[in-house]
Amino acid sequence: MNDQAEALRQLVQTREFPRSSATRIVTVTSGKGGVGKSNFSLNFAMALQKRGHSVLVFDADIGMANIDVLLGTPAPYNLFHLLKREKTIWDIIQTGPGGLQFIAGGSGFQELVRLSDEELEYFAEQVALLNGHVDFLLFDTGAGLSKQTLRFILAAEETIVVTTPEPTSITDAYALMKMVKTMGNEVAFRLVVNRVGDDREGRQTADNIRQVAAKYLGMELPVLGFIPDDANVSKAVKRQIPLTAAFPDSAAARGIDLIASRFLLEERKRRDRGISGFFQRMKRLWS
Ligand SMILES: Nc1ncnc2c1ncn2[C@@H]1O[C@H](COP(=O)(O)OP(=O)(O)OP(=O)(O)O)[C@@H](O)[C@H]1O
Ligand SMILES: [Mg+2]
Repeated sequence: MNDQAEALRQLVQTREFPRSSATRIVTVTSGKGGVGKSNFSLNFAMALQKRGHSVLVFDADIGMANIDVLLGTPAPYNLFHLLKREKTIWDIIQTGPGGLQFIAGGSGFQELVRLSDEELEYFAEQVALLNGHVDFLLFDTGAGLSKQTLRFILAAEETIVVTTPEPTSITDAYALMKMVKTMGNEVAFRLVVNRVGDDREGRQTADNIRQVAAKYLGMELPVLGFIPDDANVSKAVKRQIPLTAAFPDSAAARGIDLIASRFLLEERKRRDRGISGFFQRMKRLWS
């Protein structure tokens, strides 16, 4: 056992991945499928990277994954190889366009859809090794609340829920948050409204969900922003080039960029609060 721990330590030390102080884990999820989670995750990651932060996108839509397809970068190794213990977490990290690091989820493997507790535990251990190597770890999950997605939501420090203005998507987003909450979990959710006709529609959609979440779940639901409905998204998908690279000036890319800057601003505030909180506590100890 000790030998194994030592081997892992050595493995971590010998990798040339840059170390950052601590990795923030963010999960991206939705109630309804096809609302734009994967495209958002990818382009949000690229926007964060453009601002000087290292990001690893982790395709957690296990078994139905497609981040590698969106990136146009076939991945020789994916989660399947990790779970079968053929590869380590370091071996399955791929580099996509713009130097974006990602881990492919693997698709078409029936075995991946239902993971045993033992496999999930090993998986969690391996993911923990990533701590400190990137600023942000972004989990792109499948739609709806499976046992696996719930684990990703609970493992993250915050979860971004993506919805569109369509009532079905809104209802499902609310249902997902309700399920998580009624299972007794306190999760920091934030909202992104995708495919809005204009900002007014985005604001109305966000206000609707926020009010219902506050009233019935006693839950605060900060809004990260809106992304316009934009034909360039589909064009980029067809070309297998991320939107922010193919059409950086498109309305959707600009929306995602704004979300990234708001996200980073909040991050800075959070860290400052942490530091000032630290000084407050120190002062109290001294007085
Ligand atoms: N802002 C947008 N404007 C126009 N079309 C969009 C936008 N965002 C996403 N789409 C379209 O929706 C499709 C589905 O997006 P995506 O694969 O990112 O959704 P998803 O939520 O990850 O789906 P799944 O639940 O299957 O994982 C895209 O291929 C694209 O055509
Ligand atoms: Mg997806």
